[in-house]
Amino acid sequence: MKARFPKFDFSNLRAHWAPNWEFAQRANAASLIPAHIEPYLLKVMMQAKQDIDPAKVRLHEDLDIFIKQEMQHCRQHIAFNKRMHALGYELLKPIEQDFAATFARFLATKSLRFNLAYSEGFESLSATACELYFEDYNELLEDADPEPTNMWRWHLAEEFEHRTVCSDVYHELSGLNPVFAYFYRLYGYFYAVLHLGRFQLMVSRKLLEQDRATMSPDELTASLARDKYARKIMGRRFFSNLLKICSPFYDPLKRREPVGYRAYLQEFEARYDRGPVAAAA
Ligand SMILES: [Fe+2]
Ligand SMILES: [Fe+2]
Repeated sequence: MKARFPKFDFSNLRAHWAPNWEFAQRANAASLIPAHIEPYLLKVMMQAKQDIDPAKVRLHEDLDIFIKQEMQHCRQHIAFNKRMHALGYELLKPIEQDFAATFARFLATKSLRFNLAYSEGFESLSATACELYFEDYNELLEDADPEPTNMWRWHLAEEFEHRTVCSDVYHELSGLNPVFAYFYRLYGYFYAVLHLGRFQLMVSRKLLEQDRATMSPDELTASLARDKYARKIMGRRFFSNLLKICSPFYDPLKRREPVGYRAYLQEFEARYDRGPVAAAA
């Protein structure tokens, strides 16, 4: 596990960066999530770090890498989302402001235990998304533009890489016995699934509505068909993963590694990683 420091060039990014435009727009809607949830995650984990026994050296080291990775993720998604604004999707701006306000409210009003359970809920979803981007989306990503494809694959590969950190921190600090800790973890997971799932659907709908407002009847029919196809692929693992995550024996460490994710990260480092000094410049 290590931090990587890429810089993607979104100056020529197209909103419809994959041949299935509707898949691209659903991914674009999802890009709002890390831009706002990950800064919150960093604050939750920095707060948690103060409460973790200094003798737990490994967990402190993992948390340091986790924080560095998430900083780079949200940085790249913020740049991506700015390009979406410039491409004419200004409608995203007020949505993003509201979304950011929700996380400020969580930090101000919710307990550390809630914030940790919610964070772990999000992290278990991210590790699942890694499987999708490496195994299920290959046909959707065929002939897609490289920058957004690599942004998502790099991000989600690192999500898989650090999948145990929030879980370990939650179990370290929940203050609950194992039975209550299990049920409270489920509460955080379902809260995240509903909150983030609804958000992504709402943003996707708005982006697609804007695109479809200028389509001819034939184009609209084709758009609806492409979207149906993309949604089928995007949703097909949701319930099997939900069942795994809800098991009392769920352990993120034991999750099956997505095919090709390790090799991808190695190759990615050689091509994209500029190192921390260049990234800070
Ligand atoms: Fe991330
Ligand atoms: Fe993460």
